[in-house]
Parts: sequence; structure tokens; C-alpha cells
Amino acid sequence: MGISAELLGWYDRHARVLPWRIPPGQGPADPYRVWLSEVMLQQTTVAAVKSYFERFTSLWPRVEDLAGAEDARVMAEWAGLGYYARARNLLACARAVAARGGFPRNRAGLAELPGIGPYTSAAISAIAFDHPETVVDGNVERVVSRLFAIETPLPASKPQIHALATDLTPNERPGDHAQAMMDLGATICTPRNPACGICPVSDPCQARRLGIAADLPRKAPK
Ligand code: ADE
Repeated sequence: MGISAELLGWYDRHARVLPWRIPPGQGPADPYRVWLSEVMLQQTTVAAVKSYFERFTSLWPRVEDLAGAEDARVMAEWAGLGYYARARNLLACARAVAARGGFPRNRAGLAELPGIGPYTSAAISAIAFDHPETVVDGNVERVVSRLFAIETPLPASKPQIHALATDLTPNERPGDHAQAMMDLGATICTPRNPACGICPVSDPCQARRLGIAADLPRKAPK
């Protein structure tokens, strides 16, 4: 089996249960919930985001509801998540989406919206619309660096990591694949003590074979 097939099988059994997630294989998620979670997760941990996500979606279940909210109310609910420019962009984006009658359904359209950069447009496109986009966050950088034993330090290795991550992305279930890569990085292929013994892709992992998994990715001295 290929790397992506192994990962998807693992994800079917071990996907983290997260409030913005549809269980594996149960079809595309709501783009509003995917967008909101990805913006909240930009500089904040999954654990910290959960309760904010629940609160926002119970106050404002649809993007039109958020678009109609008062600025001060949204800023108050955001308090604690930090990086307040994100909250201002969040409202601007919700209003732009409501005005155009829904989220754009491709990456280029998503990337034109306030606060949506290359990572977020790829993530929404893959997770909400199941487009085979390459989604690379810090977890995915680590997983790919190890799978292919990339010795070039970050950030110089980013283009190579992106190209290899693109090769791994399947046409079937690309959204689940993206989230499987993130979950593997968050729960097994962790920075200091990777759990190679229970990793679904330890066989093809070149860093594991070389005994250097915990040493990768290398980082250029600051
Ligand atoms: N980090 C950022 N986006 C995520 C997602 N969709 N699932 C898990 N972790 C994430």
C-alpha cells in the first residue's frame, strides 16, 4: 500500500474527534466551520481553540449570522485568542462571503478574501470541497521531512517539502489526507519523541530507517 492509503486507513481508525470535523469518509464539511476553525488555529493550539469554536458557532451558526454581528461583540468573544487583526479580518471576510452569497468553491477565489493566505485557502479547498490541494503546516513539514529524510534545514527546505507533499496528495479523499497528515504530526510524529513503533508509515519512513527521525527537521541557526 502507498503512503497515502496507509494514512487514510489509520485516519479512519484514529482521527481526532474535533468540533469542526465531519467523521472520516462522511463527506465534505461546512466551509463556514472549516474556515472559522482554520483562522482560529492559525496561531493557537487545538486545545485552546475548541471552546472558542463552540461558542462562536452557537452564537453565529452560519456565516450570514457572523456577518451581521456587531464588531465589538465579536472582538469581545475573540478575547483570549490573541492576534486581534485575525478577528478584524474574520469579520471582514464573513461580510464579503455573505455579500457574495457563500464561500468561493475554489482556492483562487478563497485566496482573495480578507485574512485567507496560501495555507488557509488550500486547507479550506481540500477539507470543505475535497479538492486535491497541498496543505502544509508545521506538523506536515515535520512529517514530510522525516518520511523523505530531508537534511536541508528549514526554511530552505520548504520548496522541496511542498513538492513532496504534493506528490503524496491523493485525488481520492484529499481533505481526509490533509487532516491525517496533521493528526499524525500532532499525535505520533511529534517534535521530540516520535512514536515510530505505532506509526502507520514507519515502514516507508526514511528518517526512521536511518535512526534520525527525532533529529528532523533540521533548522537553520537563527
Ligand atoms: N490544525 C490546523 N487545521 C487543522 C485541522 N483541520 N485538523 C487538525 N489540526 C489542525
